[in-house]
Amino acid sequence: MATHLVMGDPHCTPKASNDRFLWAGRVAADYKVSHVICMGDFCSMDSLSSYDRAKKSFEGRRYQKDMEHSHEALSLFNKGLGKHKARKIMLHGNHEDRIDRFVDENPELDGTLKISDLKFRQYGWQEIPYKQIKVVDGVHYAHHFPSGIMGSAISGENIGRTLLTKHKVSATVGHSHLLDYAISTLPNGKKIHGLSAGCYLNHTEHFARDTQHMWWSGLILKREVKDGNYNIETIDIKTIRREYGKR
Ligand SMILES: [Fe+2]
Ligand SMILES: [Fe+2]
Repeated sequence: MATHLVMGDPHCTPKASNDRFLWAGRVAADYKVSHVICMGDFCSMDSLSSYDRAKKSFEGRRYQKDMEHSHEALSLFNKGLGKHKARKIMLHGNHEDRIDRFVDENPELDGTLKISDLKFRQYGWQEIPYKQIKVVDGVHYAHHFPSGIMGSAISGENIGRTLLTKHKVSATVGHSHLLDYAISTLPNGKKIHGLSAGCYLNHTEHFARDTQHMWWSGLILKREVKDGNYNIETIDIKTIRREYGKR
């Protein structure tokens, strides 16, 4: 039966080491997972951030550096995976979407900067465009789900439960960087699982200096995945570093 490895937003950035991607590949191989699903914001795209443009923290950022660092991360993941074969699914998050938005705002760049510069496909990942849902073994995966007709992402303290009450299917999201999980039972006895998958990083993000302590960082294993039902196991990044960091 299917085993999914869920990697919450890893926010690859030239300011932090890519070691965690090698460790994640090793985890995927070790648990012989059938699928790896990255929840989006694989690359932070610091060079296209509108948040701190023209501030001191922006100095030294380069599009090319962001790309090269992401390629290294993708290559390390495959190295960790070794000979193990798994289906790899990459959801685009709002940070990948920065590339499209930047070109939209600077149309003269059309055809020069593109999400495909990240080379997800070349490294063996199936890509799912931002805001699209990918259903795998009955679990609905998206970077975030809308909270209502206005389309803003479900957020707050009970993301798992809210996913279930609003969307009524098994659903897994990234984006908030919080870990939250809820389970419900439909009248026919079917279990549905709502999950906010945290993130997968161990560097500090300046924009979140007053909230980062709330984030959860690690990988999530879903075993016996079928028709949206599964058994969940979390492995935090400290454990991953200890078990998979020295080989
Ligand atoms: Fe996001
Ligand atoms: Fe994120």
